[in-house]
Amino acid sequence: MELFKRSVYCGHVSQDFVGKEIFLCGWVQGRRDLGGLIFIDLRDRSGIIQLVFNPEKNKQLAEQAHTLRSEFVISVRGTVVERSPESINKKILTGSFEVSILDLSIVSSSPTPPFEIEDDVQACEDLRLKYRYLDLRRPKMHQYIKLRHEVILSVREYLNKLEFYEIETPLLSKSTPEGARDFLVPSRLQKESFYALPQSPQIYKQLLMSAGMEKYFQIARCFRDEDFRSNRQPEFSQLDLEMSFVHEDDVQSVMEGVVETVWRRVFGETIRLPFSHMKYEEAFARFGSDKPDTRFDLEIQDITIVFENTDARFLKKVIDDNGKIGALCVKDQAFSRSALKGWEEKAKKYFGASGLLWVSFKQDGSFDSPVSKLLPEDFFKQIRDVIPTIAPGDTLFIVAGSYQAAWTALGRLRNALGKAFNLIDESKYNFLWVTDFPLLEWYEADKRWYAKHHPFTLPRKGWENQEIAKIKAHAYDLVCNGEELAGGSLRIYDPATQKKIFKLLGISEKEAQDKFGFLLEAQQYGFPPHGGIALGIERLVMALAKTDSIRDVIAFPKTTTGSCLMTQSPSQVDKKQLKELGIKI
Ligand code: AMO
Repeated sequence: MELFKRSVYCGHVSQDFVGKEIFLCGWVQGRRDLGGLIFIDLRDRSGIIQLVFNPEKNKQLAEQAHTLRSEFVISVRGTVVERSPESINKKILTGSFEVSILDLSIVSSSPTPPFEIEDDVQACEDLRLKYRYLDLRRPKMHQYIKLRHEVILSVREYLNKLEFYEIETPLLSKSTPEGARDFLVPSRLQKESFYALPQSPQIYKQLLMSAGMEKYFQIARCFRDEDFRSNRQPEFSQLDLEMSFVHEDDVQSVMEGVVETVWRRVFGETIRLPFSHMKYEEAFARFGSDKPDTRFDLEIQDITIVFENTDARFLKKVIDDNGKIGALCVKDQAFSRSALKGWEEKAKKYFGASGLLWVSFKQDGSFDSPVSKLLPEDFFKQIRDVIPTIAPGDTLFIVAGSYQAAWTALGRLRNALGKAFNLIDESKYNFLWVTDFPLLEWYEADKRWYAKHHPFTLPRKGWENQEIAKIKAHAYDLVCNGEELAGGSLRIYDPATQKKIFKLLGISEKEAQDKFGFLLEAQQYGFPPHGGIALGIERLVMALAKTDSIRDVIAFPKTTTGSCLMTQSPSQVDKKQLKELGIKI
C-alpha cells in the first residue's frame, strides 16, 4: 500500500494549517458513522485529530473508510477545516479542527486488539504486559517514555558541560558487592566459569579513577536478583558518577545540579539548592527510616520513660532488655474499635511490629485502651510531659521492642498513617541528604557484620578506636518524599584500610584476593582519593511522573516474578546450547 509522505503530526494541526492540504500517518483510534458522514480519530505519538469522509463528495473513499477498524495504520491526504463552534471537542488539543479527506491509503490492518488503547484502560496488567507494544501506544505511556528520554538527555548535557566523560563498562563482568544475588552467565569458552552481570559498575568506576579519568559518568544497566518491591526491578538503570580529589560536598553538589537541571527542563521550575542535610541517627530517631518522608510531621516520640515503673509486664520486660517504647500521636481522629484492630493487624503483618498498642484520649481526659487497667490514672499527664502537644481527641500508637525493630515498624506505620489521613502535601518535592551512615550493619541471622553501602566505603576519621556499631561512613543518600533516589560515598583508597575493613566484614585475605584482587592491586599504584554516587533513573522518573509503579517508566519491564510476559522469558533453552556450555540440568 502506498505510504504518503507525512507533512505534519496529528497533534500539531493548528490554525496555521486551515485551508491547507496536509498528509498524515497514524493509527485509527476509533470510527463513528454519523448522519452519513464517517469520522475517524487518527492517532500518532503527538496526539489525535479528527478525519471526515463525506460520501457525497467521494463515495468510493467513504466505502473504503467504512472498512477501517481500531489500530489499522493509515496514511491520508486532506484539507484542514475549522469545526463549527458546537462541534468543538475540548478534550483534545486539535479539537477545533478536522481534516476533510481527499485520499486514503490503508497501510496495514489489525485484528480487534485485546484491550482498548486509551489511558483509563480496564484490562489487567498481565494482559497489558503480554501486549506491551500495544500498551505503550497509550498516550500516558508515551508521556512516561518521553519524560525518561528528557531526563537522560538533560543529564548528559549537564555533565558534559562539567567536563565529565561518558564511559561504558562491561556487562559481562565479575560479581560486584551491592548485596543482592548476581545474575550469572555461563562461559562457553571457559567451562564451569561464569560472568556475573553487574549489580552496579562500582569497581569499574573506581578503576577509572585509578586510570586518571577524574570525572566519569554513565547511564549504566544494573542487574540485581533480589526480592520484588514496587520500586525495584531486576534490571534497571543508574546514573553513575565518580570523581577524583573530592570531598562529600563536591559529589553532592554535582548531583544537586543534575536534579535541578532535570526539574527545570521538565517542569520549567527552579528548585532551591543546596538540599538540606540530616544525619542518619537523627533521621532514624525522628522518622524510623533512613529515607524519611519529610512532607509531614507525625514524628516518633520516645515514651520509654513513662513506662519505667509500669505494671504491664511485657512493657517492663522490653525496658529491662534495653529496648525502647516509641509512639506516634495521631491528632484529632476518631477511630472505631475495628479500625484500631485493623491497624494492629497491619502493623504486625506488614510493618514488622511485634505488637501495636493504642491509647485514645477522650475529651474528658479519660482514655480508652486494651491495657487501660495497667495504665496509671494520670497517664495523660505523664504522656503530656513527654509529648507537650498531645490533646484530648488524640490517639497514641505504641510499639515496644529493640530500638532498631520498634522504630523501623513505627517508621512504616507512620508512612501508612500519613497516607490514610491525607497528612502528606502531594504537591511538594522534599529533597534531603541523609549522611553519616553507620559503616557496618549487624545481621543477627548470619551473625556477622555487613557493609551498609559496600565494602569500599571510606570510614570517618578515628574509626579504628570506635566500637564497630558506632563507626560512621563518608556515605550519603539523596532522598525525595520518602524514596531513596541516589546513594554514594567517598571510597577507601589505601590498601591498608581496605584490608582492615575486609577483616571486619569477615572476608578472608584469600577471598578478598579472589574477588577483588585487581582492585587491591590498583590501590597500590597511586590510587587517588575519590568518591561518587548513583542515582536510580527509574526512581527519578517515578518521582517526576508521580507514579507508584516502576513498570510505568520502563519500556519492557519484568513482572513481580521476574518474567517478561511478552517474550516469555526466562525460558528453557535447547539441550544443544546447554551441552556447549557444559551445563547439565
Ligand atoms: P545503591 O545500591 O544505593 O548504590 O543504588 C543506587 C540507586 O539505584 C537505585 N536502585 C534501584 N532501582 C530500581 N530497581 C532496583 N532493584 C534498584 N536498586 C537500586 C536506587 C538507588 O538509590 N554502587 C553504589 C553507588 C555508589 O556508591 O556510587 C550503588 O549501586 O535509586
